[in-house]
Amino acid sequence: MIHTSTSWRRGANRSLAVAAVAAALDDDVWMSGDLTLRAFTEADLGFLERLDTDPEALGAFERVGLWDARARRRRWERDGWVGAESTAVAVVLADGTVAGVASWRAQDRGGPPGGCYEIGLALLPEHPGRGLGTAAQRLLVGHLFGTTIANRLEATTDADNIAEQKALERVGFTREGVLRGAVFRAGAWRDLVLYGLVRERWGSG
Ligand SMILES: CC(C)(COP(=O)(O)OP(=O)(O)OC[C@H]1O[C@@H](n2cnc3c(N)ncnc32)[C@H](O)[C@@H]1OP(=O)(O)O)[C@@H](O)C(=O)NCCC(=O)NCCS
Repeated sequence: MIHTSTSWRRGANRSLAVAAVAAALDDDVWMSGDLTLRAFTEADLGFLERLDTDPEALGAFERVGLWDARARRRRWERDGWVGAESTAVAVVLADGTVAGVASWRAQDRGGPPGGCYEIGLALLPEHPGRGLGTAAQRLLVGHLFGTTIANRLEATTDADNIAEQKALERVGFTREGVLRGAVFRAGAWRDLVLYGLVRERWGSG
């Protein structure tokens, strides 16, 4: 599930927010091999607008209906998409092409502020099944464990989204359960699968 909603969630703890934003801003480019995560710039506004105007851009599992195509621009003007409670960054190929969007948002699971984030990823349909989804999420996890105090990362995905489930499992996430009837898409209520990864398991193979 990607987190490019333009509204901010209520009730999140501000100190958690400060830590997350500092981490993101200090490290606004995060690289591994040929892939880079970086903050969106003005030159990316066309890419962001495409996410809301091209019905194919986000793929079948993220298509939620009509959306205000100016909302992502307004969010970018407000905080560059690096926010206290949610952040979205560009996934950039070696040649500079923006291939997708990676995101995270604070998830309050009852522990200390900053202890848990939910991550998300969406690649444009021009870049399918080449290992990019796995690589980008590995990079994102490395960024969050490397620059925040998070102990737990989560991801949810449609029960039919096998590509995302495979990618998460390759990164090291564990399938933790099914959230039944959690989202409404294409005329029906759908199940989500919940994945989790705790810090001590990161990199342990
Ligand atoms: C989900 C997504 C991030 C996966 O990225 P990707 O680059 O295709 O992923 P990878 O290549 O790293 O791995 C995907 C695996 O799933 C497989 N796969 C792809 N589509 C599949 C399908 N429809 N059914 C079964 N397996 C599938 C691939 O073959 C690959 O496995 P393999 O290497 O064993 O062959 C990407 O497809 C995407 O952004 N989709 C649109 C948005 C979305 O759904 N985001 C997830 C939101 S929760």
